[in-house]
Amino acid sequence: MSLQLRVYVPPHPLIKHWLAVARDAGTPSVLFRSAMTELGRWLTYEAAREWLPTLEATVQTPLGNCDATLINPEVPVAVVPILRAGLGLLEGAQTLLPLASIYHLGLVRDEQTLQPLCYLNKLPEKLDPQTRVLIVDPMLATGGSIMAAMAELTHRGVDPSLTRIVCVVAAPPALQQLSNAYPGLIVYTATIDETVNNQGFIVPGLGDAGDRIFGT
Ligand code: PRP
Repeated sequence: MSLQLRVYVPPHPLIKHWLAVARDAGTPSVLFRSAMTELGRWLTYEAAREWLPTLEATVQTPLGNCDATLINPEVPVAVVPILRAGLGLLEGAQTLLPLASIYHLGLVRDEQTLQPLCYLNKLPEKLDPQTRVLIVDPMLATGGSIMAAMAELTHRGVDPSLTRIVCVVAAPPALQQLSNAYPGLIVYTATIDETVNNQGFIVPGLGDAGDRIFGT
């Protein structure tokens, strides 16, 4: 079976609702942050299916023994928020993955070239190849930032097939690049939008998520 990039857009009313709130240009920063937190939570919930490692055990209920499935604490789980905007999704993701290590990656696009510049990298030199990695960033636009993040991770031993990307709006240029380079990868997004304009903004998108989260 040949591997293909998979992109899931979960048909969930809570995801649709918070996406609509985030898209609305009239949404104030405080509510935009809530929308990001909720989207981070529900998209991580979806991404955790068949990704979060489990183990089989037996538990004793007050009435007898029972087969049970538990989260396996031995397998490392990591969340990589791409700063700044990824911080908006982190809180929701972290509530579902309280044991995950958080490795911050600061990337900003040069406004002229649209190339990502790395200004913070808290990734360790090596990661266990069994690590389940969740990258959170609200927008995949030209794809420069997510490709830079994937390069940093795979360089450190991360397996793309054990990696999930949670974003809010994904655009075709980014998905095409991911598909070419990492066919085993899975993306969870609230929507796929049509285009990226000359300034690198997704249209219709939701504007500059970093600025809207932090009120800058
Ligand atoms: C935005 C966004 C992504 C990136 C996507 O960040 O959060 O990280 O752009 O664009 P790309 O796919 O074309 O690389 P930005 O560079 O605006 O930084 P910020 O999060 O600090 O606002």
